[in-house]
Amino acid sequence: MNTEQPLALLGGLTPSQFMKRHWQKKPLLVRNAIPNFVPCVGRTELVALAGQEGVESRLIVDSPRGWKMKHGPFPKRSLPPFSQKKWTFLVQGVDLHHDGVHALMQQFRFVPDARLDDVMISYASDGGGVGPHFDSYDVFLLQAHGQRRWRIGRNKDLTLQSGVPLKILQNFEAEEEFVLNPGDMLYLPPKYAHDGVAEGECMTWSIGFRAPQEGELARELLLGLADEAFEGVGDALYRDPKQAAVSSSAAIPPALGDFARQVLDKALKNPHLLDSLLGEYLTEPKANVWFDIADKEPDLSEGVQLDRRTKMMYDDRHVFINGESFRVGGGDARLLRQLADNRSLSASSCAKLSESASEALLDWMASTWLKPLEK
Ligand code: SIN
Ligand code: CO
Repeated sequence: MNTEQPLALLGGLTPSQFMKRHWQKKPLLVRNAIPNFVPCVGRTELVALAGQEGVESRLIVDSPRGWKMKHGPFPKRSLPPFSQKKWTFLVQGVDLHHDGVHALMQQFRFVPDARLDDVMISYASDGGGVGPHFDSYDVFLLQAHGQRRWRIGRNKDLTLQSGVPLKILQNFEAEEEFVLNPGDMLYLPPKYAHDGVAEGECMTWSIGFRAPQEGELARELLLGLADEAFEGVGDALYRDPKQAAVSSSAAIPPALGDFARQVLDKALKNPHLLDSLLGEYLTEPKANVWFDIADKEPDLSEGVQLDRRTKMMYDDRHVFINGESFRVGGGDARLLRQLADNRSLSASSCAKLSESASEALLDWMASTWLKPLEK
């Protein structure tokens, strides 16, 4: 992606300028980010998605007796009528289920794939919304249908109301207010307070991000290290030729504590292992994603493209795909990085792969992680 090209999507800023000035720092309102935007998913399709098992959805109602929240799936006719005011339903990860939504998400790949998460779509009746709140992650709020009034502010006080089934700020103070029309977009950095209320029926697409959390990442990496540790660290026994005779028999010798720290240092010393565990973690498919087995003989002659649900990334030594890592170098590394960046590889490029890399691609195709390139 050309990071120096001004984009209507970013109000005429280049991706580089946007990342420097706004990303994780301050909001950006873009009028006509996608001129003449015609959403490829409408109300009926979204209601159908919210009815499906394996699709994450929520219903939020702002009722006279307070906020109500319910998790999907929502079978046919179980949602309130759209003539009833002040309710909304939200469908998470629509990019996993719809090629057009997945294609739109690609426009945001000036942010690394490791940070891009999903597209959530909300559909609200008049007055509907999820209340004043803040999110922990950056978000682009793209208005897809109808109008939404956004009020936003840098609330210092992030105290949440207690006893409500969703996160609602106790003392929301708006500093700015805008009404968004279809094609308009609002970027908000993490923790920026906001409240979006539908003016008539309204659909909003949230392009969302993820960021590893310290403790969770440490646990994931350590679990991976634990699997490798027995072989990787070695099998030498603790030795204590200098151990003196003890009068306090139950006390653990400090040298044994040092030994424990040394073996852990040894387990952490292999930087490539840590890198491959990180890549495997970052490309792990979402919990609700299952790949079938291909019903056709895999074949690279037409070129290949990644299935929309496939996650593929790379570092200096490895490529990672759907939670697995492969050591690659030379021409194969160049071609596989091209596949990860472009999410496709032409037939002529496939023909240049080594035998072992071609075998890997055929395996991925048999697992439906890849499919023949669509012309
Ligand atoms: C919505 O689409 O209603 C909520 C999006 C958000 O506030 O993050
Ligand atoms: Co939000």
